[in-house]
Amino acid sequence: MLSYRHAFHAGNYADVLKHLVLSRTLDYMAQKPGPICYIDTHAGAGGYSLVCSEAKKTDEFSQGVGLLWGQKGLPPVLAEYRALIERFNEGKALRNYPGSPWIARQLLRKQDRLELCELHPKDHPNLARLFKSERRVNCHFGDGFKRSLALVPPIERRGLVLIDPSYEIKSDYATVVTHIKALHKRFATGTYALWYPLVDEHRVRTLEKAFIRSGMRNIELYQVDVTEDHSQPGMTGSGMIVVNPPWTLKKDVTEALQWFAPKVSDSGNALCRVEVLVPE
Ligand SMILES: C[S@@+](CC[C@H](N)C(=O)[O-])C[C@H]1O[C@@H](n2cnc3c(N)ncnc32)[C@H](O)[C@@H]1O
Repeated sequence: MLSYRHAFHAGNYADVLKHLVLSRTLDYMAQKPGPICYIDTHAGAGGYSLVCSEAKKTDEFSQGVGLLWGQKGLPPVLAEYRALIERFNEGKALRNYPGSPWIARQLLRKQDRLELCELHPKDHPNLARLFKSERRVNCHFGDGFKRSLALVPPIERRGLVLIDPSYEIKSDYATVVTHIKALHKRFATGTYALWYPLVDEHRVRTLEKAFIRSGMRNIELYQVDVTEDHSQPGMTGSGMIVVNPPWTLKKDVTEALQWFAPKVSDSGNALCRVEVLVPE
């Protein structure tokens, strides 16, 4: 039984980092005319209310997308990301936050295709409703790990796979590496973007080492460590590992994090990591 619901967390600082990486990657890929296949293995509901009881209960978005709202002088990459979120809202108030499928859809073109997987019986219908009139969006109800293996290599031969599990099942830390290796074996030129939480430093170190030893090349890591006290329960930061990133991503994310990270941390001293884990 899946208990994780993204409605409690939508728009938090982890979503900002994840969706920034997603949008900068797709923005770059869409500059070339060839069609793109976007695969979202853990798509969620596609969009979330920030005024519903779930979001109000945690108020996580205040320390995420809320920090950007109404701010003047944002670095251009953050201003572009905010403009996407503004499009998902009517009027000036921040009331809604889009999920990764909706963000990807904004950046993709008529020649591109979206394959979205979601396992939760309540979130999948919402996702399917959001894209019901779109022929180039396929919403799969089922396990995104299994489905995505059947979707690669895409006929387009250009693609991005976003892997964004909730890590409710602890074996997900190992599964994600095995899974990306399996996808990469079928489709070596694809781009793979993995989200991970910082809950247990040991697990994250193990995850990093597994990528370093994976045999895959051209891997970057982006991480924000928000809470210095690691004895606290829960997530203290989050990160993204990207295989075959666009060459522009490092500069873009660094520019955004230099502005964003000090505002999101308790002390103003968030530890940001932008690293090449494995060179080309
Ligand atoms: C972190 S949320 C996804 C958020 C979304 N990617 C976004 O950025 O807006 C993780 C989602 O994965 C779903 N899920 C969990 N296990 C799954 C699986 N094996 N296959 C597909 N979806 C799964 C959960 O129901 C949840 O909606």
